[in-house]
Amino acid sequence: MKLTVIGAGYVGLVTAACFAEMGNEVVCVDNNGARIDSLNRGEIPIHEPGLEPLVRNNLAEGRLRFTERLADAVDDTLVYFIAVGTPQGEDGSADLSHVLEVAKELGRVIRHRCIVADKSTVPVGTAEKVKATIQAELNRRGQKLDFEVVSNPEFLKEGDAVNDFMRPDRVIIGAESPWAIETLRELYAPFTRSHERILVMRPREAEMTKYAANAMLATRISFMNELAALCERLEVDVERVRIGIGADQRIGYAFIYPGCGYGGSCFPKDVRALIRTGEQVGVEPAILKAVDRRNEMQKRLLFEKVAARFGTDLSNRTFAVWGLAFKPGTDDMREAPSRVLIERLVRSGAKVQAYDPAAMPTAQTAFPGEWLSLGSVKLVPHQYDALANADALILVTEWKPFRHPDFSRMKALMKTPVIFDGRNQYDPDDLRAQGFEYHGIGRP
Ligand SMILES: NC(=O)c1ccc[n+]([C@@H]2O[C@H](COP(=O)([O-])OP(=O)(O)OC[C@H]3O[C@@H](n4cnc5c(N)ncnc54)[C@H](O)[C@@H]3O)[C@@H](O)[C@H]2O)c1
Repeated sequence: MKLTVIGAGYVGLVTAACFAEMGNEVVCVDNNGARIDSLNRGEIPIHEPGLEPLVRNNLAEGRLRFTERLADAVDDTLVYFIAVGTPQGEDGSADLSHVLEVAKELGRVIRHRCIVADKSTVPVGTAEKVKATIQAELNRRGQKLDFEVVSNPEFLKEGDAVNDFMRPDRVIIGAESPWAIETLRELYAPFTRSHERILVMRPREAEMTKYAANAMLATRISFMNELAALCERLEVDVERVRIGIGADQRIGYAFIYPGCGYGGSCFPKDVRALIRTGEQVGVEPAILKAVDRRNEMQKRLLFEKVAARFGTDLSNRTFAVWGLAFKPGTDDMREAPSRVLIERLVRSGAKVQAYDPAAMPTAQTAFPGEWLSLGSVKLVPHQYDALANADALILVTEWKPFRHPDFSRMKALMKTPVIFDGRNQYDPDDLRAQGFEYHGIGRP
């Protein structure tokens, strides 16, 4: 099939590469010229395991092409995928300006019968807005043309995006017309051969399903973080409680890890967008507001623990930070808990020595330039370099190399052997036996 994917970010690039891998002819469009140039050289602008060989091979085989201009892609595309960002708007709602800009451009350039599939996460009713926007442009051109707008939300997770796309738990097709449904069924069939997991529903239901999934996962995390706060006061180790409840098949173990808060480009903004939707339609989003509030509190928790131990004036203190990405497996630092922590450390006068296996290039632009130039934040090339003369280590992201480090080497490097474990990775008794002072989340 001939496909065009608009947006070459985490979702668009993975979508384009995976469809090309299955033999489709794919054009991937992005209005970021520098990004397109680097992709055309076979350089991948994001860290995503397995993505680089897919992009390079399909570029070389001629099934994948990158361009800055949508007009270059239109000739006989059957399905256009919109995969541009929907960041948080000023009032918390999803900012649809990029999606509607793409819709407008599609209306200006399409010339054949086609399907427009929305992969971006968008509020209920957006497919109708996209359709109206395209139609208005077609009317302006005096062009009569048959096109369908469908909702095809994406559920991949950063860090495992290629696997998720290749073997999805489910593919949701939110469409009304049999032609659009059958076309997308055919397109996704190679990804769901071993297990028929294509779910067809109305576009509004598909749009809602995406928000519902993210809100449910965020709720589990915030719920567990609230339990952790209770446990800490009650001399209970939340890790035992986690194992105890996860064993219940009705609950399970996924997304019940207490920690220093969720971040990333999806959960925070999607929970807030759903809150805004609730307010707009007159439904009090009581649970969602609490989920968001608990997460904001949780992101401040590591700093509060540091301040309780070392005081609020942290000049002459140095802290090692392990993990900057919002989760392991990605270089994405959008809404990462590390940002909240580091900002508060720097503002309290501390020096930060930080390391992340993938997010070092992102970190170069994530922090104010003067923090880096004046040495308030030092980005170091190895995890152990961060520990040199540090008053404490703060573990923020649970990358695998941080899970079982050489504790005696760490102790020798640090000024004082204090660990703040923002992801409950370590055994408190074991660390205490090795002479560390241990502070976890929800552990007495
Ligand atoms: N990142 C994830 O894990 C994930 C997972 C599922 C769904 N989503 C959703 O998918 C959408 C995209 O997310 P992302 O993380 O890939 O975003 P991203 O910021 O990584 O990528 C978006 C890309 O779109 C490009 N773009 C913006 N406007 C454009 C335009 N008018 N024309 C062409 N290109 C344009 C940008 O230059 C950028 O490269 C969002 O709605 C997000 O909520 C993201």
